[in-house]
Amino acid sequence: MAFKLSAEFKAKADKLCAKYPRRDAALIPLLHEVQKEQGFVAEEAMDELAALLGLPYARVKAVVTFYTMFNRAPVGKYHLQVCRNISCHMAGAPGLLNRLRDKLGIAEGETTKDGLFTLSAVECLGACGAAPVMQVNEEYFEKLDEAKLDALLEDLKHGRLPGRAR
Ligand code: FES
Repeated sequence: MAFKLSAEFKAKADKLCAKYPRRDAALIPLLHEVQKEQGFVAEEAMDELAALLGLPYARVKAVVTFYTMFNRAPVGKYHLQVCRNISCHMAGAPGLLNRLRDKLGIAEGETTKDGLFTLSAVECLGACGAAPVMQVNEEYFEKLDEAKLDALLEDLKHGRLPGRAR
């Protein structure tokens, strides 16, 4: 899907840029806006944002590729992002990832055929004290174990994304 900045998006971007001393400081918030609208940040979007902010394309691409929170390809309805850093690793993240691979029949970076789930292993989600943690779209699910994971998957399969579980 080719991305084209709409006049509406550009107006919103101008408003956002005005809040910062320099236009390029709005890059990350604008990338979030693109992802909210499109579900991911396409190459064309990076190109257009670079032009809009007066930045080299390489700088925009570097930011998008540095942060795992930005998707560079379409993702499923539910993006399952399992933290793989040390606290989560020690608390059982590898087992959770294995279970997700088995139950969904996909590996990291893949999406189920029905378009429901995309699986990713990501860097620290900043909730290490509640490891192991998985982010689903914008929600965090903490202190997960296999039983909680199974229950969550069932909810998601039935179209229910529960609120933050602690
Ligand atoms: S190590 Fe998993 S949230 Fe920090």
